Amino acid sequence: MSNVFVLDHPLIQHKLTYIRNKNTGTKEFRALVDEVSALMAFEITRDLPLEETTIETPVMEATTKVLSGKKIGLVPILRAGLGMVDGILRLIPAAKVGHVGLYRDPETLKPVEYYIKLPTDIEERELIVIDPMLATGGSANDAIHSLKKRGATNIKLMCLIAAPEGVEVIQNEHPDVDIYLGALDEKLNEKGYIIPGLGDAGDRLYGTK
Ligand code: PRP
Ligand code: URA
Repeated sequence: MSNVFVLDHPLIQHKLTYIRNKNTGTKEFRALVDEVSALMAFEITRDLPLEETTIETPVMEATTKVLSGKKIGLVPILRAGLGMVDGILRLIPAAKVGHVGLYRDPETLKPVEYYIKLPTDIEERELIVIDPMLATGGSANDAIHSLKKRGATNIKLMCLIAAPEGVEVIQNEHPDVDIYLGALDEKLNEKGYIIPGLGDAGDRLYGTK
């Protein structure tokens, strides 16, 4: 069963409140999503393995630590996932970035894939799938299946806000995928929106309706 981590660092919780607020405009919303994504990346990379290396400081030779093990790949789900990429890249600038384009059909709420482009070596990377919202779980579930079909074996999922319904779908379909959240909300409404949530993440990021 996948682990679910709610990253309840005070800075993340504080910024999420402003992200949720309907009076927060596009410019501020975008900046806050970027900041929270960076803070979440800091927490999600806490268990990255290190190895020792020997360097010369200006004073003496020293044995210190550098990252080892698998390289990281980010996979934003278009379009709202794009809003989280730059914040994470500030902390992990060498990460490669793949893209999965999915939208939810407003009638069926089922995801429709329209684009996929991934680094060639995804099977050797630790992939972090990113999307602000995990609602019914359909989009993240499809994206993860797409990655696995192409050879990915090491995947984490990172979302700003999730509904219990979406978490359950990922846990059932992908017990190997750990889930990192800024908040776990109450439930979905009849239109498949997370409540209390933040509304439509893509529209709020890009000023569309
Ligand atoms: C939103 C969101 C997720 C999806 C979550 O995208 O960014 O990808 O809905 O819902 P689900 O868990 O029920 O699948 P949307 O389909 O609105 O597309 P957009 O990012 O292009 O706006
Ligand atoms: N997608 C969003 O952007 N918001 C929700 O609340 C649910 C799905």
